[in-house]
Amino acid sequence: MNSYTKIAAYYSKFSSLFFSKKDILRFIEKSFLNFGDKKDCKILDIGCADAKLLFLLKRRGFEKLYGIDISLKMIELALKRTFLKGIKLYNLNFLNFTSRKKFDAVLCTMDVVNHIPKKEIFGFFKNANTILKKNGIFIFDINAKEYLQKLGKRRFIVKKIGGTLLRWKFSLNSRYLKINFSVREKNGENVSEDVYQFIYDEEFIENALKDCGFEVLKKVYDYRLPFKTKFSSKVCYVCKKS
Ligand SMILES: C[S@@+](CC[C@H](N)C(=O)[O-])C[C@H]1O[C@@H](n2cnc3c(N)ncnc32)[C@H](O)[C@@H]1O
Repeated sequence: MNSYTKIAAYYSKFSSLFFSKKDILRFIEKSFLNFGDKKDCKILDIGCADAKLLFLLKRRGFEKLYGIDISLKMIELALKRTFLKGIKLYNLNFLNFTSRKKFDAVLCTMDVVNHIPKKEIFGFFKNANTILKKNGIFIFDINAKEYLQKLGKRRFIVKKIGGTLLRWKFSLNSRYLKINFSVREKNGENVSEDVYQFIYDEEFIENALKDCGFEVLKKVYDYRLPFKTKFSSKVCYVCKKS
């Protein structure tokens, strides 16, 4: 459903313009410090895309880094980064991922959980729980329900960056927001792809986490604020395998 095939290179090029990885990194490092994860802890990034976050973690001295992404195109982009040496990548649907090694921390940031349909969300959280060590940490975000609904009402957004025209066209229903992302280059080249973001409310997610063996240790908004505002887009969780 969400293939991130044609748009992978554009996601890689432009995503940092819309959300700061630095805020995410700061939040992750602070959480590791608070919950005792050291630089030699084993970290898996689910939906790692082009492995930017893993690269930043490597630069900060983390040594045992793993990434998984369902999109072959994204994994190919990640593999092009020569500095990835020492980072192990898997091209797989996380729902089918099994591992003999257990991780100290599992990350899943920037909308990945919203790509998982409701019927699969328990399996997704259960698998995250299974591959963690006891007391292991699960850090992830979801897009706030109100934020996705607000986008749906706007119908579309257009942005011009340099000579490139980016357009997001939204169709909303009660279960998901369908986003048609299209890019038109100066030379007339045009690509477009649909992605789906399933709508979750916080209560549903927190009940599912509990049922899947997690305790929520911390919840913030947009990786910074302890409270929700009308501008909040992301709900960010730090959970412990209980
Ligand atoms: C919006 S991107 C976020 C990428 C990355 N976490 C970041 O911070 O830039 C979502 C990524 O999740 C991946 N993804 C979606 N569903 C997945 C699944 N079931 N298993 C593994 N990867 C998945 C997509 O291929 C895509 O690369």
